[in-house]
Amino acid sequence: MILYSKSPSETIRFGKQIGRFLQRGDVVALMGELGAGKTQFIKGLTQGVGVRRSAYVSSPSFTLINEYKGKIPFYHIDLYRLEEEKDAEELGLEEYFYGEGITAIEWADRILSLLPGELLRVNIHYTGKQTRSIELVAKGKRYEELMNRLRISDCGFRNLVTSDY
Ligand SMILES: Nc1ncnc2c1ncn2[C@@H]1O[C@H](COP(=O)(O)OP(=O)(O)OP(=O)(O)O)[C@@H](O)[C@H]1O
Ligand SMILES: [Mg+2]
Repeated sequence: MILYSKSPSETIRFGKQIGRFLQRGDVVALMGELGAGKTQFIKGLTQGVGVRRSAYVSSPSFTLINEYKGKIPFYHIDLYRLEEEKDAEELGLEEYFYGEGITAIEWADRILSLLPGELLRVNIHYTGKQTRSIELVAKGKRYEELMNRLRISDCGFRNLVTSDY
């Protein structure tokens, strides 16, 4: 499924619509170049899940883990400063991936071998100064169901989706 965004606020809105369908244990892996809009999208996810930031945690490898509190805890992990995949081992990411909260990871392509087998992948690309393509790829049954729920939901997604495969 590919969504086309024409503004930062539209990207946040897409994130919010998807965030409403997230559940405990879900993992969202974001990929896309510098300034693509990953953080904007995650801002939307937190709004959709209904959480507020409670803490910034900076690890020795400078990976930022933003913790949000709400009915379901939400963790935003930003791996931009991670130099080597093996540096991620000390972060104890499994606790997030296989825990009770929702986890969204920026620069997820830096830890490909550590990612869980099932997740929602979000690839964001520049298509212009203010425009982006946001590709959603479901890996595993839970996320295929999530995509189906998005498609049949009333949030207007169907009209916004211009490509589907
Ligand atoms: N359609 C759009 N969607 C999202 N962001 C947009 C869009 N158009 C312009 N922008 C701008 O692009 C930038 C995206 O920043 P953001 O921090 O979300 O990117 P990022 O992918 O998280 O980057 P980084 O890799 O540095 O963390 C913002 O300055 C935003 O205003
Ligand atoms: Mg970012």
